[in-house]
Amino acid sequence: MANLLEWSRAYGGRLNADDKNQRFAKADSLAQRLSAEVSAGKLPFLSMGYRARLEADMQAQLAHVKTFKHMLLLGIGGSALGCRAIQRAFAPSQDLPGHNGPSVWVADNVCAEQFEALLGRLSPKDTIVVCISKSGGTIETISQYFLVKDWLKNALGDAWKHQMIVVTDIAKGYLREEAQSYDLASMEVPDNLGGRYSALSAVGLLPAAYLGIDWQALLDGAASVAAPLTAPAPRLAEHPSFALAAWAHALMCKGYSQLIYFCYIPQWATYGPWFAQLWAESLGKNGQGSQPIAATGVTDQHSINQMFLDGQRDKGCLFLTSRKQAQGRSFGQDLPEKWSWLRGKKFGSLLEAEALGTRMALCKSQVPLVHIDTEDCSERSAGAMMMLLEAATVFTGWLMEINPLDQPAVELGKRLANTKLGAAGYTQEEQDLRSFLELPRDEQVF
Ligand code: PA5
Repeated sequence: MANLLEWSRAYGGRLNADDKNQRFAKADSLAQRLSAEVSAGKLPFLSMGYRARLEADMQAQLAHVKTFKHMLLLGIGGSALGCRAIQRAFAPSQDLPGHNGPSVWVADNVCAEQFEALLGRLSPKDTIVVCISKSGGTIETISQYFLVKDWLKNALGDAWKHQMIVVTDIAKGYLREEAQSYDLASMEVPDNLGGRYSALSAVGLLPAAYLGIDWQALLDGAASVAAPLTAPAPRLAEHPSFALAAWAHALMCKGYSQLIYFCYIPQWATYGPWFAQLWAESLGKNGQGSQPIAATGVTDQHSINQMFLDGQRDKGCLFLTSRKQAQGRSFGQDLPEKWSWLRGKKFGSLLEAEALGTRMALCKSQVPLVHIDTEDCSERSAGAMMMLLEAATVFTGWLMEINPLDQPAVELGKRLANTKLGAAGYTQEEQDLRSFLELPRDEQVF
């Protein structure tokens, strides 16, 4: 048993044998870069040198954290999406009727109505708040932090400090200052571990551990994929993450501007938005990249799949299945004649058959497709998949000759929003906002 990449339909459509042969052209030079960056501590998501510290911190926090019925997580982007994916995949019962165990609530927006609904239903005394921000200064998260701090204080007085944990940079940022001022419990987001690469640090794993998820197995799975990349003289050309990167880059070079993440492990569907953020924020640079599209089998066969199959020929596909999925209950032997072919079959056989049908239909429609087939749906396999995709994203960025670890374009909108709210020091942005708003509005009633 192993997690597999299946390549037989990858170089279809406009990709050809030359693309396939070319795919390792840069492997040796990038292997040297990889070694250098790992040694310089620039890729902690791969080397996971933070693991021992994380384990110690987790031990220190967990007993206290687990005494609460609810965890309220404040964070956005990479500080929220991994946590939500892990919760939905491995602690789905909190979203099912009759749940009575611990629950994690992820507040990753600034919708006043949703936020009030959440705070109105949670009881401060039963809630541990985890505020996650690598930079410690993200407006959405900090604004929630201020409001939740008041919410806790109003109910608990000075004891609010025992119900707030911050997960942030070890030394810098406003949240770290808060932790120091109020002696708040804290966990570290290691240096150089950017938001979208941080799900397998305290960011995603503190909530996971609170929910009783096997977070160590997530790390073990990730480590098994990362180990050959962090070894001395890594053989990049042989590593599946590099093969994926080379394929994704070849697709971009041939005009495939969209990459589907088609997840036929339905309980892992929320990894779709996690992957979409990882891919888009890392690779949408200098007019390049491919737009990630998160889709879930079989649900999306009845929504966006028609476009995949017969829309523009601009899509490649990562097609995710698992060889070991729950089979569930069986259909009765008394089904009507019209449905007799289902008699005695397991419900799970539908998922398998429909995954095969859709994969074949995509290939027949000339959609270049890599099949990721996990041996099971365990935490270990999920950790392996996360590491595979994170490493593939970085290597794709290197092949594109862009920096996959920053996100400069999204800063402008943040600066303009801060300006609009009255923050000081944004002279140019003030002028830009004024001229944007001066343009006469061209309105139409509907
Ligand atoms: O992936 C990223 O770097 C971003 O999406 C960040 O996670 C997001 O902007 C939140 O940043 P921070 O964790 O600093 O609050």
